[in-house]
Amino acid sequence: MNETIQVLINEVEIQERLLSLSEEIKKDYAERPFIMLCALTGGVIFLADLSRHMGDRATIDFVRVSSYGDKTETSGTISLDCHPKLDIKGKEVLIIEDIIDTGHTLFFLKKYLQEKGAAVVRTCALLDKPSRREVDIAADYVGFTIPDKFVVGYGLDYAQRYRTLPYVGVLSFK
Ligand code: XMP
Ligand code: MG
Repeated sequence: MNETIQVLINEVEIQERLLSLSEEIKKDYAERPFIMLCALTGGVIFLADLSRHMGDRATIDFVRVSSYGDKTETSGTISLDCHPKLDIKGKEVLIIEDIIDTGHTLFFLKKYLQEKGAAVVRTCALLDKPSRREVDIAADYVGFTIPDKFVVGYGLDYAQRYRTLPYVGVLSFK
């Protein structure tokens, strides 16, 4: 089977959107410090580019979220394989996610951070597929709203491939 990728959001469009997104974020946080908490692995390219617009007000940290269990089961079981290193108690945390699909991952992460005592938890996702939502949750900042297609590139993978592409494309099999 041949995999083909059709560009959905090109490199220039991504970088331009990152600039406007970073302006929104900087305005909302004013001069307050905050932690950009990246969900690995998919969010890492987005974090790297977005964080470089933040000046020195942001620190960065990582979590790794895994879902297990039957893919056909909606809720699945989500667990944290890698915990944040920074103390997040009383801090403002901005979750950096590659994509929000069913919303289960984001729901889990927000709850985890709130239980850890974060003062405010917000979310910034590069991509959002609202038509797939199973949990009533929305990101505070969204780069692009996309249709229900499987996408790769700019951090997103298929079997660990394609993360390094500078654009987001729709993956199909021929
Ligand atoms: P949920 O459903 O919990 O899932 O919101 C979010 C995670 O699912 C993965 N995901 C994708 N990965 N292309 C990908 O490469 C996609 O189109 C896609 N849709 C969901 C991704 O890991 C995300 O963090
Ligand atoms: Mg992810």
